[in-house]
Amino acid sequence: MPLVNPLKFIKKAQEKGVAIAAFNVHNLETIQAVVEAAAEERAPVIVQTTPGTLKHAGIEYISACVKVAAELYDIPIALHVDHCPSYKTIVQCIRNGYTSVMIDGSELPYEENVALVKKVVELAHSVGVAVEGELGRIGGAEDGITVEEREATFTVPEEAKAFVDATGVDTLAVAIGTAHGVYKWEPKLDFKRLSDIRKLVDVPLVLHGASGVDDDSIKRAIAGGICKINIATELKIPMAKTIQEVFRVKPEENDPRNYMGAAKEAVKEVVRRKIRLCGCNGLADELEGYR
Ligand code: 13P
Ligand code: ZN
Repeated sequence: MPLVNPLKFIKKAQEKGVAIAAFNVHNLETIQAVVEAAAEERAPVIVQTTPGTLKHAGIEYISACVKVAAELYDIPIALHVDHCPSYKTIVQCIRNGYTSVMIDGSELPYEENVALVKKVVELAHSVGVAVEGELGRIGGAEDGITVEEREATFTVPEEAKAFVDATGVDTLAVAIGTAHGVYKWEPKLDFKRLSDIRKLVDVPLVLHGASGVDDDSIKRAIAGGICKINIATELKIPMAKTIQEVFRVKPEENDPRNYMGAAKEAVKEVVRRKIRLCGCNGLADELEGYR
């Protein structure tokens, strides 16, 4: 099947009180690891790339690979651009078949953020593409952009409602205490804030910086209204560690199929575990056209 707009399956997850796992990919092997595990788990999945990955791998290569994956497996697969600050890059992604975009204007003053997001929503909705917005600033480092702890700001529930109403975004990323990258200390999620946001905002909520957050907190966040969980670092770490281990055991190894193949299997295991944690395994079979 072609790539799909993820909104339908995110809403299905919302209805069922589970979440869709969204994985940041960087190359062919990570794409394969994500879609193979998702297909085996019968989970709809969001494959996502940051603008930095598009620079690294090339938008044409990435989009072609994920389109092929969608044709090979009978699960719904969406291709999403993550943390994109640029309207121009959003246009390029849509032209290359992306079915979902995140416009990240979280660095901008509120009014400018709203204006940019609105413009993206108008464009994306005219061609059936979903839009994720962000309000508040998620701390940590993602794609070379570092939000220092002092700059990170939690989402204000009333502002979140006003932002969703003003922009028409389909989903909203909320800052409730997670951060991108490896945690320096144990993250503590603000569940009261999540519940206050949920009471005011109907659109599905997105949790960024999910790597390193304990399973119970993830489950609680899902029960509190999170419908999409973003995972990047927890795939990067097993990839790097596996490759390091291959070379530790066999320093003369030079066949990429061996070290990348081993890395892919390690990533696949994490994808499978996260899908089960999110509770979206089997969800593909509950969606029309995939039974
Ligand atoms: P982690 O790298 O902390 O998993 O964050 C993922 C993310 O939010 C991608 O947008
Ligand atoms: Zn993120």
